[in-house]
Amino acid sequence: MKLGAERLQQVAESATLAFSERARQMAQKGINVIDLAGGDPDFTTPAHIIEAAFTAAQKGATHYVSSRGIPTFLEAIANHYAAEQGLQYDPKSEILVTSGGKMAIYLAILATIDRGDEVLIPEPAWVSYVPMVQLVDGVPVEVPLDAKNNFLLTREALEEKITPRTRALLLNSPSNPTGRVLSRQELEAAAEVALRHDLLVFSDEIYYKLLYDGHQHISIATLPGMRERTIILNGLSKTYAMTGWRVGFALAPKPIMSQMVKVQSHTITCAAAFAQYAGAAALNGSQDCVREMVEVYAQRRRLIVDGLNSLPGVRCEAPEGAFYAFPNISGTGMTSLEFCERMLEEAHVVMTPGSAFGPSGEGYVRLSFANATEKLAETVERLRKVL
Ligand SMILES: Cc1ncc(COP(=O)(O)O)c(C=O)c1O
Repeated sequence: MKLGAERLQQVAESATLAFSERARQMAQKGINVIDLAGGDPDFTTPAHIIEAAFTAAQKGATHYVSSRGIPTFLEAIANHYAAEQGLQYDPKSEILVTSGGKMAIYLAILATIDRGDEVLIPEPAWVSYVPMVQLVDGVPVEVPLDAKNNFLLTREALEEKITPRTRALLLNSPSNPTGRVLSRQELEAAAEVALRHDLLVFSDEIYYKLLYDGHQHISIATLPGMRERTIILNGLSKTYAMTGWRVGFALAPKPIMSQMVKVQSHTITCAAAFAQYAGAAALNGSQDCVREMVEVYAQRRRLIVDGLNSLPGVRCEAPEGAFYAFPNISGTGMTSLEFCERMLEEAHVVMTPGSAFGPSGEGYVRLSFANATEKLAETVERLRKVL
């Protein structure tokens, strides 16, 4: 009997899983472990958003809804993108609510990538992009970004990986793990490549509200000729501390969106109804809660970046967006895996080795600062003792 599809043989286990498991075992033994590996905000979802879901459920939002999403939330997403980016999407035919941002990305890939199609993925990149492309029998093609040049995205780097099978380019700005926010020049370079080689662009904008030092988010769909070839992928998890609600969304031209809706209607059916009412409340309500959380992230960012830079052999650029510090630890003489191993064993701090995000992440580790300020301060002191 065949146990498991061949397609899955190439898909790697999550690199962070082993660390989390060991951390869990240590915690069970009573060891005080600080886990900075995950990307889950430590804030509770703002009260007015929880209230909206509760009220909606009491009023009967406990049934199936349209596969695309509930009209009020679809309209809220359309209005939001119109106000934020000046982009117009028809809520009836060009927007889809999904069960988490992750599902939006997967549906976009599933609906557009054929067997053997190559997808360019600039790396270091979030750990799930490569497996998602592999799951649909596509070919992930990693595009190494130069660490010495602060992981700048260039036309040359992209062009080098173009083949007749290249079908799409996947962008993530602000980036997990590097914290880079793509500048207009970088986006123009990417758009030029996409237009010249007739590529689709998957634009993962999930961290678009988490920006520091005046950095601005620009969706690549706003560039000339790009709206028709871009699928915008976003969600509420990071912006509103709603990871457990599983609400994501996608915006794309009608012909692409109709394919995505087809897949959704035959798989998860629809995102949870009451969670979508919460989503409408999140986008339509006051954005003070977001500003307040970003303010706290900004303080923690300063603390962790300054702390890391005070350690021997560690050098950390201030991230421009998202909530990860991505320090270079090569000055310690350890590989990123060795560093994480040693810090787990001796400092009881869980981090993610940069190599988990692609070859260009070697020499780096990732720490999430979506964690309590005291834990971050304690982390720096624990690392200092070991180093
Ligand atoms: C870059 C990136 N994209 C998408 C997601 C998906 O988030 P969710 O499925 O919770 O919306 C994450 C979560 O960690 C992420 O880091």
